Amino acid sequence: MDNRAIGVFDSGLGGLTAVSALRRLLPDENIVYLADTARVPYGDKSLDELNKCAEGDISFLLSKNVKLILIACGTVSSTLTREQMESYGIKVIGVLEPAARAAAEQTQNGKIGVIATAASIKSGAYKARLADIRPDCEIYPVPCPKLVPLIESGKTEGKEVKGALCEYLDPLKAEGIDTLVLGCTHYPLLKSEIGSILPEASLIDVGAQAAKEVKDYLAENDMLSENGGECKFFASGNPEDFCGKASRFLGYQIEKVSIAKL
Ligand code: DGL
Repeated sequence: MDNRAIGVFDSGLGGLTAVSALRRLLPDENIVYLADTARVPYGDKSLDELNKCAEGDISFLLSKNVKLILIACGTVSSTLTREQMESYGIKVIGVLEPAARAAAEQTQNGKIGVIATAASIKSGAYKARLADIRPDCEIYPVPCPKLVPLIESGKTEGKEVKGALCEYLDPLKAEGIDTLVLGCTHYPLLKSEIGSILPEASLIDVGAQAAKEVKDYLAENDMLSENGGECKFFASGNPEDFCGKASRFLGYQIEKVSIAKL
């Protein structure tokens, strides 16, 4: 048993999709969530900048005495090396590995699309991991730079969102993919719009897959919490702004968001 919190971070709202999944799967766990909203979006940053962001985010969560860190960000999960993840002295889980395994298992026709930020796609990490697990599959990675700024500005439907999604998804539809990895944790917030363009494709929610991995790891290592269920939110940018948007996406009112000095 370990009642310390699970630390979760993302550049902004996207990681809340992983928080929702964690709360469903592990209602007794305490969670500390960090949104690095002062530096969102991450998807157009260089590797060097992303490493600095990740270092700051992980150090902040370590200062909160968490028992495990979930990188609820496809971009950092794609660009941080395994050695970097293993260098912090506690378990660090990214979203890429569990999502790649789920997609490889799910596909029937072997055609897998991956949509993610420009930095994630540039890293080649999703493609490389999928090709490792299923060398027989065809992988179609598509960078989607317009989506995170739209979602962070509160837009999850309407003409602008549909236009951007059609630009990114129509070529995947033409290829006949049957599985689409939503490689950025922001994208499940567009699930219904994506589903209307690609109704036959199975959508892989990377945050939800990673939440299952967190559950398995805690159970296997006798680290589950026995009382808790409390969620604390921190934002490096404007806390009121994050509070309003996060409450809408989580479906319940967050009472307090504190400032994180990174
Ligand atoms: N949720 C982050 C991801 O999964 C968003 C990256 C960004 O801020 O551009 O990649």
